[in-house]
Amino acid sequence: MSFNNRKFSINRQTGVPRISAKADRRFSSHEPSPQETNSKIHRQFRNAHEGHRPHAGLDPTRASTGVVWCTERAYEHGFAEEPEKWANLGQGAPEVEDHIEGSFERPKMIDITMAGREYGPTAGIKGLRAAVANLYNAHHRKGKRSQYTYENVCIVPGGRAGLIRIAAVLNNAYLGFFIPDYTAYNEMLSLFKNFAAIPSPLAESDGYHIHPNKIAEEIARGTSVILTSNPRNPTGRVVKNPQLAEIQDICRDRATLVMDEFYGGYNYTSNCDGTTISAADNIEDVDEDDVLIIDGLTKRFRLPGWRIAWIVGPKEFIKAIGSCGSYLDGGAAVPFQEAAIPMLEPDKVLAEMKALQRHFKVKRDYVVKRLRDMGFIIKTVPDSTFYLWLDLEGLPPAIADGLNFFQACLEERVIVVPGIFFDLNPSKRRDLFDSPCHHFVRFSYGPKMDTLKMGLDGIERVVAKFKHSSSVAVK
Ligand SMILES: Cc1ncc(COP(=O)(O)O)c(C=O)c1O
Repeated sequence: MSFNNRKFSINRQTGVPRISAKADRRFSSHEPSPQETNSKIHRQFRNAHEGHRPHAGLDPTRASTGVVWCTERAYEHGFAEEPEKWANLGQGAPEVEDHIEGSFERPKMIDITMAGREYGPTAGIKGLRAAVANLYNAHHRKGKRSQYTYENVCIVPGGRAGLIRIAAVLNNAYLGFFIPDYTAYNEMLSLFKNFAAIPSPLAESDGYHIHPNKIAEEIARGTSVILTSNPRNPTGRVVKNPQLAEIQDICRDRATLVMDEFYGGYNYTSNCDGTTISAADNIEDVDEDDVLIIDGLTKRFRLPGWRIAWIVGPKEFIKAIGSCGSYLDGGAAVPFQEAAIPMLEPDKVLAEMKALQRHFKVKRDYVVKRLRDMGFIIKTVPDSTFYLWLDLEGLPPAIADGLNFFQACLEERVIVVPGIFFDLNPSKRRDLFDSPCHHFVRFSYGPKMDTLKMGLDGIERVVAKFKHSSSVAVK
C-alpha cells in the first residue's frame, strides 16, 4: 500500500481536517469531503477516537513534567527573550558558579582520552565505579565489616535515567510511593508494565513525615518495592536516624527500598558539618540488604549539565541495572566519567558538603525570613534540600491556590511550581481542587542570592497587589 498521495491532516485540538502544506504531515490519500468538513458529528467522532487521529501512535500528553509545563507558560510571558530579568525559582537547579566559599573550582576544560572516544561500558567505567564505592565506604561505612566495591556501583547518565533503569529491572510487584514527591516519578511509574505503582498520601498535619509504621502498613498490604526521595522533594524534610534505620530494619528481607538521595548533601540538621544523609549508614550487608541508593553530580556537586549519576546496591541488582543500559540509554559519557573521578575523593567531598551546607542554609534563612515578613505561614523551617513547600492558604482568595499564585507570579517575572504537580497522577484520580497539594507551591532557593532577592521582591509585589485590592482577579 502506498501513501504517496497523502493530502491532508487533522488538527489534533479541534478535530477539523486541514490541508497541509508539508508533505510529511499528510496522511490521507483523499481531500476531506464536504460531508465531513461540514459535519459536526464526523469531527466529534474523529476527535473522540484515537485511531482516527493523525499520529495515533503518539501521545504527546506524556511528553513533559510539571516543571516543563511551568517553563512553557513563562515563555508565553517573555522568559525566553529576557531570562536575565526573571527569577526562575521553579526549576530544581542549584547555582553552578564557582563563588561559594570553601567550594572547589569545577573543571573548565576536560581531557578527552582515546578511551573517551569509544563506547563505554553501560555500567560505567571501573575507575568511577570504584571512586563512588570508596566515597560511600569512607563517609558511611567506616569500621563496618561489609564494604562496597566497584561491583556495587552502576554509573548512569543522570538521575532520571537511573530511575528508569531501576524501574526496568523490577519484578512483578506492587511499588509504593508517597504523595507529595518528585514530579518525574509520575511518568516513570506509568511507563512500565512489570509493576503496579500504589500511591500513599502523607499527612500535611505532621509535615508529610514518613513514619516507620507507614512503611510497615505498606508491606503488610503486599508492597514489595518502596520508592522515596530522602531528603524529600518538594517538602524539604528528611527522614534521618534513628527513624531511617528503623525503616530499613522493617524492609530488610521484606521489601526493596529505592532511596533517591539526590539532596542528601543539602542537610542542615548537623550544624553544617558536611554530613550527607544516606541509607548506606544502616545497611548490614551490602549484597544482601535490598537497598538501592541513587545520587549523582547533579545537585550536591552542582553539575546538572554533566549528566553523571550513580546507583549503589547489591551486586546482583547492579549487574542487571548495568546491563539494561544496553537497550535503554547506552550509558553515561566517558570523558565526563573520567573527569568526575578526582572530585569524589572523600576528604574533598566532606569539605565541599560543609561549604554547600553553610551557603545554602544562609539562603534558606533569608528566604524564610522574607516570606514570613510578607505574612506567609511557615510552621516548620525545612531541614534539608533547597525547597520550600509554601502554604498559600492565608493569602487573599484570588491567589490562595497554586495555579492562580503561579499565574500572578508570572506577571512579576517570577517562576514557582504549583503544588498539584507533586500530587503524583492528580488529574487521573481526582479533581484539581480536591488535591491536598492545591494550596501549595514549591519554591526553590537553588539559584544565586541575587536571583532570590529579585524573586522575593516580585512575590512581595504580588502579595501587596492582591492585599490592597481584594477585587483584583488573576487574569
Ligand atoms: C528527587 C530527585 N531525584 C532525582 C532527580 C534527577 O536528577 P537528574 O536527572 O537531573 O540527574 C531530581 C531532579 O530534580 C530530583 O529532584
